[in-house]
Order: sequence, then C-alpha cells, then structure tokens
Amino acid sequence: MRVGCPKEIKNHEYRVGLTPGSVREYVAHGHSVVIESGAGAGIGADDNAYRAAGAQIVKTAAEVFTQSDMIVKVKEPQPSEWVQLREDQILYTYLHLAPDAAQTKGLVESGVTAVAYETVTDDRGGLPLLAPMSEVAGRLAIQAGATALQKANGGRGILLGGVPGVLPAKVAVIGGGVVGLHSAKMAVGLGADVTIIDRSIPRLRQLDDIFNGRVHTRYSTVEAIEEECFSADMIVGAVLIPGAAAPKLVSREMLSGMKPGAVLVDVAIDQGGCFETSKATTHADPTYEVDGIVHYCVANMPGAVPITSAHALNNATLYYGLQLADKGLKALVDDPHLRNGLNVHKGRITNHAVAEALGYEMAEPKAALAA
Ligand SMILES: NC(=O)c1ccc[n+]([C@@H]2O[C@H](COP(=O)([O-])OP(=O)(O)OC[C@H]3O[C@@H](n4cnc5c(N)ncnc54)[C@H](O)[C@@H]3O)[C@@H](O)[C@H]2O)c1
Repeated sequence: MRVGCPKEIKNHEYRVGLTPGSVREYVAHGHSVVIESGAGAGIGADDNAYRAAGAQIVKTAAEVFTQSDMIVKVKEPQPSEWVQLREDQILYTYLHLAPDAAQTKGLVESGVTAVAYETVTDDRGGLPLLAPMSEVAGRLAIQAGATALQKANGGRGILLGGVPGVLPAKVAVIGGGVVGLHSAKMAVGLGADVTIIDRSIPRLRQLDDIFNGRVHTRYSTVEAIEEECFSADMIVGAVLIPGAAAPKLVSREMLSGMKPGAVLVDVAIDQGGCFETSKATTHADPTYEVDGIVHYCVANMPGAVPITSAHALNNATLYYGLQLADKGLKALVDDPHLRNGLNVHKGRITNHAVAEALGYEMAEPKAALAA
C-alpha cells in the first residue's frame, strides 16, 4: 500500500502522523511511504531523517493526498483537506466528529473510509489510541492551569503547593479516567490538595488505592460538583462518554459561586467541553475570562509538547496502522477493536454516538464494510 503523511495545518499543531521510526516499520512491511516536506520539523525530524527511513519526500500536501491509499495524520482534517479525500482512500487520524457537524458532512461527502483513533478499543474496555494523548494532556493541564493561576495571567495568584505555613491550592478533577489520573498525579506531585470526582465507583476505588490516601475521591452528582467548584482554585474537566459530546457538568450559573480568578481547564473541549461556558481556544491565545473565571480550553493540548506527544502517539497507532496497510479494509473486518474505530465509510456514519449526536442514520460497521 502507499501510505502518506501530510504536514499538520491546525493552529500550532507541531505533531506528525508518522515519525521516521514508524516510516521504517511501514517500509519493512513492504509499503511505500510518501511524506510532505517539512512534516516532521516540529519534532526535530528533517526530510533527510525521513529519506533515511525509506520515505519519498514530496513538496505539497496535495501530492500526498493524490498519491496515497492511506493518509495517516494527527488532528482531524481541516476543510482544505476534506475536499482532497476520496472514496478509495483510508483516513487514519483523530476525528472527534460528534461535536463537529461540518467535518462530518465533509467526510461523508468525500466517501472516504475514516478510522478515528479515539474510538478504537482494547480488550480491557480502554481506548488505546486516545490514552497516550490523554496522559500528555492530563499532565499538561496542571502546568497550564498553574500558569493561568498566576496573578499576571488573570488568575487568583495562588501557588499550587503553597509553602510551609500557607495552605496549598485546591484542585478538583472531574472525570478520573486517563486524563484525570495524570492530572491528579501532577497536582499531587506539586503539593496541591486534590479531589477527583467520577461517576464510576469501581474507578474511584482504584484511584483511592493508587493514591494511597493522597487524594480525596467523590461520587459525581450535581451537588458534589457544585461544592467542589465553589471551593476549588483550579478545576480540570476530564470526563468522557466515548464518541459522544461531553456532558455540561458546570453551568454558567455555578461560576458566580466560584472564587474570583479560579481557573477552569477543560481538557474535554475536543468533545465539546464539559463546562457550559467553554469554547475552544488555541495555543496562540489559550485563555479567556467569563464572570471572573479564567478558562483554558485548548483543543489540541499535546501539540504544545510535540516531541513527547508524536512519539507517544506513534507508539500507540503503529500496530493498527500496519494492520490497515497490510490488509486494507479486511483489517477492519478481522479485528472488532479496530472496527470500533470506523466512523465513516463510503458516505455512511458507522459510529453510534456520532450518528446519534448529529442526527445521521447509523450503518452497522460490519454490514457497511460488506456492502
Ligand atoms: N484537549 C486535548 O488536547 C485532549 C487531549 C487528550 C484527551 N482529551 C479529552 O479528554 C477527555 C477525557 O479523556 P480520557 O482519556 O481521560 O477518558 P477516560 O474514558 O479515560 O475517562 C473519562 C472518565 O470520565 C468519567 N465520567 C463520565 N461521565 C462522568 C460524569 N458525569 N461525572 C464524572 N465523571 C464522569 C468516566 O467514568 C471516566 O472515568 C476526552 O474528552 C478526551 O477526548 C483532550
């Protein structure tokens, strides 16, 4: 198969779908790889590194889209990219379609087979291609939130760990999955007073064991969220209902009860956000204020640390990418976990949550592939 990787064009996105190390693996499997010149610049991998790994370098993204049977990316395709996709092509990347009607329409109209990293599953009920970016975003959320909490940046002016004789800041993490766990690890490491809220009691039990008494855990109810928000200096939004738009757990009304200058970090913004007042921001202008509360809502947080993120992402995507390249659509027929990643196929939506969120008729993936 001919596998292509264009340079990412989303604002301040420096990751790359294929590292030179991944290219070498595809080439070793007998595939040819075409890379847009400069695609790896953000992770310090120049064209020569890709050439040495066996790739062919082309000047433009258009050449990558025209020449490739499978496109491997990081972020969802932008409007200028949708129009270059076609029916006999596989797109393998993050999509986050549920809150994005325009992109969904673009992919449906293109006829492409779109496999979304974020809905591929594993035997343990996890999301193995989302997890590494969630680890990065979860850790980064605390760095970003701590910076936003500084007075000159509009925050309350409180140090997460306090100092001897002064209490630490309070951090509430809503959603104790991968993002929540890694946020809590960083916040605890910096000495903050941390509470994790989740609606899964087994998960709360697990977190209680992991942290061995260093965090408080709390079952998710409107009352619990309200109480934690009113006392917190920083709130991290980290909930997920796989494939679906994030539930709005913090209303605008609640903001008036919070401490002025408190910081909301909405990591779930890529699924529409879990605070009513969230709207996606970029690394160029990451925060804004609503009713005296600082909001940080960057939709591609891992893009800020592309060297860490691109390698962590490639570690996770390589196995399934090779399956797709080796077997084509048969890889989706053979593996139910990879098939769970199929969101769009030949103009039909094949993911239940996306179909429901956007009012499409859902096509059962196996039947859609057989048609
Ligand atoms: N902004 C970014 O750059 C970025 C990067 C990575 C991940 N994310 C997003 O972060 C979010 C979390 O990802 P994750 O990998 O941690 O997911 P996850 O599935 O590991 O964890 C989600 C947790 O949310 C909990 N949850 C669901 N509904 C809840 C509710 N009503 N109250 C409390 N908890 C609830 C679940 O029980 C689960 O433990 C996702 O939306 C993901 O797309 C964003």
